[in-house]
Amino acid sequence: MSFEPKILGFLCNWCSYAGADLAGVSRIQYPPNMRVIRVMCSGRVDPMFIFQALQQGIDGVFVMGCHPGDCHYLEGNYEAEKKFDMTVKFLKMIDLDNRIRLDWVSASEGVRFGQVVSDFIDHIRELGPSPVSGENPDENLLIKLMAMEVAAGTDRMRALVGRERKLIEEENAYGELVPEEKFNEIFDSAIHDEYIRARILLSLNKDPKSVKDLALEIEIDPSEILENILILKGRAQVDMQEIVGITPIYMRT
Ligand code: FES
Repeated sequence: MSFEPKILGFLCNWCSYAGADLAGVSRIQYPPNMRVIRVMCSGRVDPMFIFQALQQGIDGVFVMGCHPGDCHYLEGNYEAEKKFDMTVKFLKMIDLDNRIRLDWVSASEGVRFGQVVSDFIDHIRELGPSPVSGENPDENLLIKLMAMEVAAGTDRMRALVGRERKLIEEENAYGELVPEEKFNEIFDSAIHDEYIRARILLSLNKDPKSVKDLALEIEIDPSEILENILILKGRAQVDMQEIVGITPIYMRT
């Protein structure tokens, strides 16, 4: 039986949604695989929505907004792009980044709307069903997606995404600019750290554990786990529950 992908589309009210409408009234043919959620601006699409959709077994997520310079709220699509780039970076860790796409479609581009949607559906059809879909979703990937959702929602990641342009393009109080390369370095390392911290938190939600057990479960070096446990302790998200023998056991607060 041929695979029919389940696609979720977040469409900006002012352009892509109107483009979809135009495609409809113009009777432009495209496959019916995409379910649409209308948002007032592509900048409203929180990475959390994408991680949640993938956890639900959606095979592909399409975000569409107004062309650069045409956003009704001036810079919403710029923000959408930054959030999307972060989501891609997270999803690259588990090879699901090719299941999401961002594109710009205006209200007058009914034909183009049909083309980009058909193209994305073909692309997902070629990839096959998401490993997180169906009756036996990959549990390991599900946990990773949940951790990404938590990590992307942290104050640190939100601040970095929200301030990227300001940091790169505007001088700080000392008349300095943060070079883009330097910013990307900081950003990538924040993605890695917050992801590991989210994995620790999710694991400790289930039951208290030692550093060694966490390291085995998350498959990273115990020294890195310990380093992050100390940071999470500083954030009052983790505490030591007891010491068994000479091993500290950590729990969620
Ligand atoms: S209003 Fe369409 S992307 Fe902002």
